[in-house]
Amino acid sequence: MRVLVTGGAGYIGSHTTLELLANGHHVVVVDYLSNSSAESLRRVAGLAERPVELVEANVGEAAALDAVFARFAPEAVIHFAGRKAVGESTRLPLLYYRENVAATITLLETMAVHDCRRIVFSSSATVYGSASEAPFAEDAPTAATNPYGRTKQMVEQILADAAAADPALSVAVLRYFNPIGAHESGLLGEDPKGVPNNLLSFVAQVAAGRRTGLQVFGNDYPTPDGTGLRDYVHVVDLAQGHLSALDRLGEGGGYRVWNLGSGRPASVLQVIEAYARAAGTRIPYRLVAARPGDVAASYADVTKAERELGWTAHRSLDQACADTARWQAGSPDGYAAG
Ligand code: UFG
Repeated sequence: MRVLVTGGAGYIGSHTTLELLANGHHVVVVDYLSNSSAESLRRVAGLAERPVELVEANVGEAAALDAVFARFAPEAVIHFAGRKAVGESTRLPLLYYRENVAATITLLETMAVHDCRRIVFSSSATVYGSASEAPFAEDAPTAATNPYGRTKQMVEQILADAAAADPALSVAVLRYFNPIGAHESGLLGEDPKGVPNNLLSFVAQVAAGRRTGLQVFGNDYPTPDGTGLRDYVHVVDLAQGHLSALDRLGEGGGYRVWNLGSGRPASVLQVIEAYARAAGTRIPYRLVAARPGDVAASYADVTKAERELGWTAHRSLDQACADTARWQAGSPDGYAAG
């Protein structure tokens, strides 16, 4: 298939682009590299031994998008592009609504003009908020608690309405839990700009001696060791979930939602221990107050994805830590050195 991947130079996008190429699909990436690097795609092309075209454009630019559709005639779109930092979204909500919500409307309009009827959308487990308790099944109520999460919830609603209005439109919403890990080659991984937002990226930099002061946010949650429980899922498993979803979209129009998680909760302290084992080093940390807005436990009920997509996350937390440590060792400055 010809697949247009928005945000394909980013963390999950680059791993998914590699899986697409490895499975014979043709890919054009649209990415304006605000939080990613073209080097990731050079490495993807090297690993796949196949070319991948990058169009440097913002998905919200209708004319640029239209030109890509006219030339490449994609049969499906995987839509990763978007901003993803919770804290930033509370400071710059309009930017989030423009780049995450308005740009998706432009994308859907362009797809309609060019008769492209299949879309896989990157959503997030953050949409579950605190309206119910883990494990979250796809029919649990959604109640995002910050502007970033609300953009995901809004786009889900827009996609549901668009699919209801156009029976030929085939939509897969994938709600990711906590993506971690790196490609086993050590050549692709997460390359956060500035201070990492996420636990494993921070832990990896502490282990490598690039940062001191890992803080564990909260140790009196109602969990076995008092620290927060999350559902960490290996990025290559996630990438493969997109291919399973693409297959299902071929079966006809409609709106479908699947959780992509491991279904196996791990605590902050378990993650730190697993990474210390993988990297063969000590990881100093301090227990501090809980981070505002965090929930005690967030993990997936994965039975729907298993049943309907035939997809499960095979890779363990230990493997994800080993792969991240390899990436960190081989590319200590991320993609910056080229
Ligand atoms: N944590 C620490 N110290 C840190 C960073 C995180 O103790 O320095 C803890 C958090 O309190 C939480 C766990 O590690 O218990 C995971 O935190 P992350 O920030 O890595 O991930 P979150 O679960 O908070 O957030 C992630 C994504 C968000 C998304 C959310 C819900 O980063 O984009 O999942 O899906 F919205």
